[in-house]
Amino acid sequence: MSAPVTLEKIIALCKRRGLVYQSADIYGGLNGAYDFGPMGALLKQNIRAEWSRAMRNASDEIVFFEGSILGPHAVWEASGHVAGFHDPMVDCLNCQHRFRADHIDLEKACANCGLKKWTEVRQFNLMFQTNVGAAANQTSVAYLRPETAQAIFINFKNIMSSSRVKIPFGIAQMGKAFRNEITPRQFLFRTREFEQMEIEWFCRGENALQTFDWWCEQRRKFYEALGIKMENIRFRAHEKDELAHYSTCCTDVEYQFPFGWKELEGIAYRGDYDLSQHSKFSGKDLSVFDEASSTSYVPHVVECSVGLDRLFITLLFDAYCEDQVDGEERVVLKLHPRVAPIKAAFLPLIKKLNEPVDKIYQQLRHEFSIQFDDSGSIGKRYRRQDEIGTPLCFTYDFDSEATNTVTVRHRDTTTQERINIDQIANYIRKQCA
Ligand code: GAP
Repeated sequence: MSAPVTLEKIIALCKRRGLVYQSADIYGGLNGAYDFGPMGALLKQNIRAEWSRAMRNASDEIVFFEGSILGPHAVWEASGHVAGFHDPMVDCLNCQHRFRADHIDLEKACANCGLKKWTEVRQFNLMFQTNVGAAANQTSVAYLRPETAQAIFINFKNIMSSSRVKIPFGIAQMGKAFRNEITPRQFLFRTREFEQMEIEWFCRGENALQTFDWWCEQRRKFYEALGIKMENIRFRAHEKDELAHYSTCCTDVEYQFPFGWKELEGIAYRGDYDLSQHSKFSGKDLSVFDEASSTSYVPHVVECSVGLDRLFITLLFDAYCEDQVDGEERVVLKLHPRVAPIKAAFLPLIKKLNEPVDKIYQQLRHEFSIQFDDSGSIGKRYRRQDEIGTPLCFTYDFDSEATNTVTVRHRDTTTQERINIDQIANYIRKQCA
C-alpha cells in the first residue's frame, strides 16, 4: 500500500526531476508563476497532444484556432469581464495578510496572526491591464486574456466564412491565460499565468442541452483514456448561485486532490450570451442563416474548458506511488505511457558497453522521446526513470552482443524480459500507443 501523496512530495519531485520550478527562483520567486523544466515541457506537450487527439476523435466538425493573448478593452467589456470578473478580497488590518473573502469565515480570526481585524470586503478585478503602444490613455487600454474563449467568439464569423464549417461545429484552442488571483495557491492548481484548453461548440439552442450531455460523456472518456483513476473523478452540477455570469448551466469535472474535491474542468452551456454580446458591442451581425427555414439565428454555445497546468498536477497526483523494490523505497510515477515525458531509457550495464547502446539509441531517437543513460549504478538509473514515469528501460548486458538481445524492464511491475534488438522499435510503439 503506497503512502499518501502530499502536495509537498509532488513539489519536491517536480523540482528534483526537472518538471516544474518556481518562476524567477534565483530572484526570490514570482508568486503564482511557474517554469517548466525539460521533463515538464515534454509532459505538457504530451497532454496537449492528447487533448487535440480527443477533440479530433470526438468529431470531425472541430477546427483548431489560436487567438492573440492581448485583447482591447472593448472585447472584455462586451464579454462582461470588465464589469463582472471580480473576486471579493479582504485584508487583515493587523498583519496585512490578504485573503479571498469567499474562502474564509470572517466571523473567525485571521489564520496568519490570530487576531480578528478585517478590512471591508472589496471587489478585485482579476484581469491584468496594460496599454498598447506608446500612449497610455483610455483608448490604449488592453488586457491579457483571462480565458482563451473570447478570441474564438470574436472570430466566429471569420472562421465560418473561411473554413467550410456549418452549425453544429466546434472551435478548439489551447493557450495561455492570465488572472491576477488574490491568493494563488496549491502549486499549479491556482496560478496567475496558466494555460487553458477550450472547445466552444456552436449549435442551435434547441439542441444545446443534449449536446451538453454528449460533451460530458466525451470528457469522461478523455479522463478515462488518460488512465486517471475514475474513483478520483466526479461530475458535479453547479447550483444556480455558483454559475458564472455567462452560464445557464454548468457541470464541473472535479478531481479528488489531497486538499479536497476541486474543479479540474468546467463544462458550461453559455446560451447565446457571447455571440449576442459581441454583436451588440461591435455592431456586427454574428447570426447565421438557416437555408431550410430561411431564418437567421444566433448559435448557442457549449464549452469545455480545462486548465493544462491543473491537469498536469492532477496527472502527477494520480500517478504518484511509493513502493519497495528489492528492499529499497522507490518513488514511481505510473503515468499513462502516452503522456510519459520519456518513453524508454537505454542503459548499458557498464560503460564499456556504451557503443552498441548508443548505436541503438541514435537509430530510435528521431522517432521516440528516449534517453541514453550510463551514469551511476543500474539500480540508480532505474529509480531515476521511475521517478519521471518512463514506462520501459532497455538494458544492454554481457549477453547482448552474442544473442542480439536486451532486457526490457517494465516500470510498474519491475518485471523484466529479454527481447531481440530488432524488435525494440515495435515494442515501444506497441507499449506507448
Ligand atoms: N472559458 C471558461 C473559463 O475560463 P473557468 O472555470 O474560469 O472557465 C476553466 O476556467 C478552467 O481553467 C478551470 O477549470 C481550471 O482548470 C483552469 N483555471 C482557471 N483558473 C485557473 C488558475 N488561476 N490557475 C490554473 N488553472 C486555472
